[in-house]
Amino acid sequence: MRVVLLGAPGAGKGTHCKRIVARYGLLHLSSGDILRRERAEGTALGKKAQSYMDAGTLVPDDLIVEMMSKAIQAARAGGYVLDGFPRTVRQAEALDRALAKGNNGIDVVINLQVNDNVVVERITGRRSCPKCGAVYHVKNMPPKRDGVCDHDGAALVQRPDDTAEVVKNRLATYYEQTEPVVEYYKARRDVRDVPADGEADAVAATLFEELDALK
Ligand code: AP5
Repeated sequence: MRVVLLGAPGAGKGTHCKRIVARYGLLHLSSGDILRRERAEGTALGKKAQSYMDAGTLVPDDLIVEMMSKAIQAARAGGYVLDGFPRTVRQAEALDRALAKGNNGIDVVINLQVNDNVVVERITGRRSCPKCGAVYHVKNMPPKRDGVCDHDGAALVQRPDDTAEVVKNRLATYYEQTEPVVEYYKARRDVRDVPADGEADAVAATLFEELDALK
């Protein structure tokens, strides 16, 4: 199964991708996670991406398309879920061209729908584990011990782009450049809108219903 998961910042893409991976055995290809890894390793791509990410704007399409094409190429044999990519119509067109070559289409596009006030609350309260990537929320999904990862005991950190100021830019960027991707897909393929304001287990249940129907 090949899935594209769309949604505003904080819609729960990362949270639900982990659940999708656990249930369907897909590979999780997150453009944001790959960029953060490149940054942590100090690669040329990571250095180029840094200023865009910190400002809450998008990294240029050419860099992203090359990076994600490599990741998808490596994952080809199995199914995958794309998280954070494509994020512009140019990226969606490039993805369609790349997949058409291998006759490997996307099976479904899921669009997580969330209100802006929920986004701000979720993102400013998010904490993540720098070691294993587990994601928490200080109120909604707290770790068992304050500030400490349940899985490996590492100290949790806040992403540098998770401040209230940068979230405003990320949301504006989303409406300007990523929302048109939803329309791009609606004109071409199956898009399932999933309300994502509610509690995570309820959102996951709706999401799984949509994906189970594809099996
Ligand atoms: P990226 O890492 O993709 O960030 P994003 O799209 O802004 O999404 P987030 O990771 O913030 O949110 P999410 O939807 O995964 O939410 P989560 O599950 O963590 O991109 C970062 C930057 O990289 C971009 O700004 C850009 O610069 C660059 N970039 C990446 N891809 C790019 C591309 N294709 N092109 C160009 N540039 C690119 O949930 C958030 C919080 O809410 C968590 O704390 C979680 O515990 C909590 N939560 C989630 N769901 C629920 C729920 N149902 N109830 C209660 N709490 C919940």
